[in-house]
Amino acid sequence: MTGNESGRLVVDGVDLVFRPPRREPVVALESLDMTVEPGEFVCVVGASGSGKSTLLRLLDGLLEPTAGTITSGGVPVRGPSPDRAMVFQSDNLLPWATVVDNVAYGLTLKGVRRSRAREAAMRQLELVGLAGNEKQYPRQLSGGMRQRVNIARALAVDPEVLLLDEPFAALDAQTREIMSSELLRIWSADRKTVVFVTHQIDEAVYLADRVVVLSARPGTVREIVPVPFERPRALPLKRTPQFGRIVDHIWSLIEDEVRGSLGLT
Ligand SMILES: Nc1ncnc2c1ncn2[C@@H]1O[C@H](COP(=O)(O)OP(=O)(O)O)[C@@H](O)[C@H]1O
Ligand SMILES: [Mg+2]
Repeated sequence: MTGNESGRLVVDGVDLVFRPPRREPVVALESLDMTVEPGEFVCVVGASGSGKSTLLRLLDGLLEPTAGTITSGGVPVRGPSPDRAMVFQSDNLLPWATVVDNVAYGLTLKGVRRSRAREAAMRQLELVGLAGNEKQYPRQLSGGMRQRVNIARALAVDPEVLLLDEPFAALDAQTREIMSSELLRIWSADRKTVVFVTHQIDEAVYLADRVVVLSARPGTVREIVPVPFERPRALPLKRTPQFGRIVDHIWSLIEDEVRGSLGLT
């Protein structure tokens, strides 16, 4: 890995065709190009079925492109790797393990000694504001706390790239707002490259340096919208006219497709 490429993601001319047995092939993504710079926070929005999750799975190496190439840190992505970590909508915490052991789990899999893995896990729990909860079990935590454990677990392996697929979708609206500002605080502490998928446009604009807007299936980049607001950002930003204008613009790009996906054309 070359130093200044580290954390850069490049998607070049990617097609992804699913070929389910005995059914028509599904072209999920077509001619997709995008670059995410090291330390950049990019959000991906698009109608349901536009290929957002497929794109993240490609970036993580869980899927292989049908055509085109994907590189991470200048190296072709050929499968999951510890330099990229994924956070899903539903936390997949181990129910029988304590919070600290859940966060330490990925490190112990990498061969880190248990005591050292726990120390590293405790640092991540502090960062996500859960120092003091380390001995609890996942069932004892609220949804928002579980999702913070999930993020701590992804960060514990110290990845270059953090991939998040609608991580707050199962949370109520207020918890979700707080979680997004928490995520910005965590990210500003050690600037990972972040690709964050959401269908909530205001969430995307609040979080991102740039918002990648996907068109309906087959998904391709419809527009990349730069978000000019300075950081650190606070939640009242969401109520400014300039913020509203960017949200409206993105919505105008996908409204017809969202209507289409509901059969409302
Ligand atoms: N394993 C699969 N086999 C066949 N089709 C799939 C598979 N996974 C996803 N798809 C289809 O690919 C398209 C994109 O899916 P997805 O990436 O999950 O969209 P999004 O996350 O934007 O809602 C959808 O039409 C979906 O039905
Ligand atoms: Mg999805």
